[in-house]
Amino acid sequence: MKSSVGLSLVFSLCLSYISCVKYEPNWDSLDKRPLPKWFDEVKIGIFLHWSVFSVPSFGSEWFWEDWKSGKGPYVQLMKQNYAPNFKYQEFAKEFRAEFFDPRKWAKLFKKSGAKYVVLTSKHHEGYTLWPSTYSYGWNAKDVGPGRDLVGELSRAVRDENLTFGLYYSLYEWFNPMYLSDKQSNFTNNEFVEKKMLPEMHELVEKYKPAVIWTDGDWEAHDTYFKSTEFLAWLYNKSPVREDVVVNDRWGMGIPCKHGDFYTCTDRYNPGKIESIILFL
Ligand SMILES: *[C@@H]1O[C@H](CO)[C@@H](O)[C@H](O)[C@H]1NC(C)=O
Ligand SMILES: *[C@@H]1O[C@H](CO)[C@@H](O)[C@H](O)[C@H]1NC(C)=O
Repeated sequence: MKSSVGLSLVFSLCLSYISCVKYEPNWDSLDKRPLPKWFDEVKIGIFLHWSVFSVPSFGSEWFWEDWKSGKGPYVQLMKQNYAPNFKYQEFAKEFRAEFFDPRKWAKLFKKSGAKYVVLTSKHHEGYTLWPSTYSYGWNAKDVGPGRDLVGELSRAVRDENLTFGLYYSLYEWFNPMYLSDKQSNFTNNEFVEKKMLPEMHELVEKYKPAVIWTDGDWEAHDTYFKSTEFLAWLYNKSPVREDVVVNDRWGMGIPCKHGDFYTCTDRYNPGKIESIILFL
């Protein structure tokens, strides 16, 4: 009698293999997690880069960095069209998103045949598309649209029965806390402790993304970003622990080695059909 009660308790707590296993904050353990089934089934997703860089809409989402590092076409564009002391941050008030109709966007995504959508919640410029508690005055609610773009798009996408995911840049080009950590050769973790991790937890708890696509990881090791600690929490305890899939950009040397799926480098072409196809 006792043992059958114990057994049914175990069954009811462990509804799936994924939720039963406890992952340790190291790659050996994290790598044992099976890829949630949905990801290989859906095949096609849409990736959206949208933020303050969409205002100049010149070159790429790297506009701020390319301009500040003195790249000719960017310097020339700014010289010819903007006041001498114009700051990149001033573009944010022009980022009005007045034609943003999340329902219309989601219907279009659906019609395309894609099954999931990933939005840049924060690119390397640090501006957050949601009202981040940790990005005062540099988020879509405080300056620009005055809206929670992540929240609105996530609801619309899910109403179309598509899966919603988020891109998040670990580093920020010009964040003074990050730059100070970098100065210390990443022996300090102030940026990670006070900005990056709290924001990632907020994103997961508030919007429950089924994809977390990190980036901006190449200057520091995964130990600086506390990546394995975050992933252990994500896989063991977070509200998305059953279904979430993450990419491989979790610190210097990690891409193409760890993560639920590999992106390796931008526009990476593996040159062959991945072996998973053979099992279908
Ligand atoms: C989404 O799925 C639910 C449940 O299967 C269904 O009732 C609803 O009509 C679907 N919505 C759309 C827009 O397809
Ligand atoms: C910086 O830290 C790395 C380890 O993360 C170490 O290999 C390197 O020697 C350090 N460089 C300096 C200048 O302290």
